[in-house]
Amino acid sequence: MLDLIYVTIKAETRRALGLDKPASTRKMMDNQRGRIFMYDRLKQLEVLRESFENNGWALAHQLFPAEVAQAVLHGFQRELGNTRESYKGIWAKGPFTDNFCFESYAYNNAYHGAILWTLTPYMQAMSGKELLPTTSYFRVYRKGDVCKLHMDRPAAEYAISLTLGYSDGINWPLWVSEDSFEAREDRDSQAAHIPDDSQFGMLRVPMEPGDAVIYDGVQRLHGRNDPNPNRWSAHLFFDFVDRNGPYAKEAFDNRTDHVLRESDFIFPDKDGPKRNAKGGLKPLSERRKKKK
Ligand SMILES: [Fe+2]
Repeated sequence: MLDLIYVTIKAETRRALGLDKPASTRKMMDNQRGRIFMYDRLKQLEVLRESFENNGWALAHQLFPAEVAQAVLHGFQRELGNTRESYKGIWAKGPFTDNFCFESYAYNNAYHGAILWTLTPYMQAMSGKELLPTTSYFRVYRKGDVCKLHMDRPAAEYAISLTLGYSDGINWPLWVSEDSFEAREDRDSQAAHIPDDSQFGMLRVPMEPGDAVIYDGVQRLHGRNDPNPNRWSAHLFFDFVDRNGPYAKEAFDNRTDHVLRESDFIFPDKDGPKRNAKGGLKPLSERRKKKK
């Protein structure tokens, strides 16, 4: 059994991220200004990098604007379905949950994979490292679920946990350990080596839709140990490794043969009379002939 100690986020970190006031107060202030609260993203990146380097984690407030998080979530619903019967993704019970939930893996869906690829430059800027993507999961938890505390396999050297949406709008925090733990090459994602009766300082990081926690998934214990208070809660997880670091071989989740392939586009020897078979425009020369 793990004994957990609650500690607060350091005051200077809270101030730097604008978290020294409750979210409701921030929203009220934003409304009074009559505009969406603006973050200086360059400065935010500096704060995130410092926090990640010093603490092993960082809260990227509104990594995705809430509207984008909402649009991405609906995109997943449109692509995959939203009932047990219609769902085209993975209906699974992972190692950290007791109940089945909706899941999907980036390499099974181009829409999902594209989000992972395109977060690469952001994570490179945040970390100051030459990162490559490894893997990503989409998951919708049900009411009462917990994600048991665990550490990830080496593919999650730089991990993002992004909240997309809550059915009931109730914040469901991510827990991250204050201390780091030794990374082990032979580890799977079961965190099986954590000794019993150990004490860990855990931070509970509140997350609104669009917020992300960036953390060292290999060396930081993490999870969601409070039961999900919403009917459902939707999240995306993205992982990256340093291409010059000890886990570089995890890049593209060991699927380079499948992912890193040459592309080719083949034109016909001679263009036909139409742009496409469904009646697109005819070549200009033919249209001129008709006019005569
Ligand atoms: Fe994890």
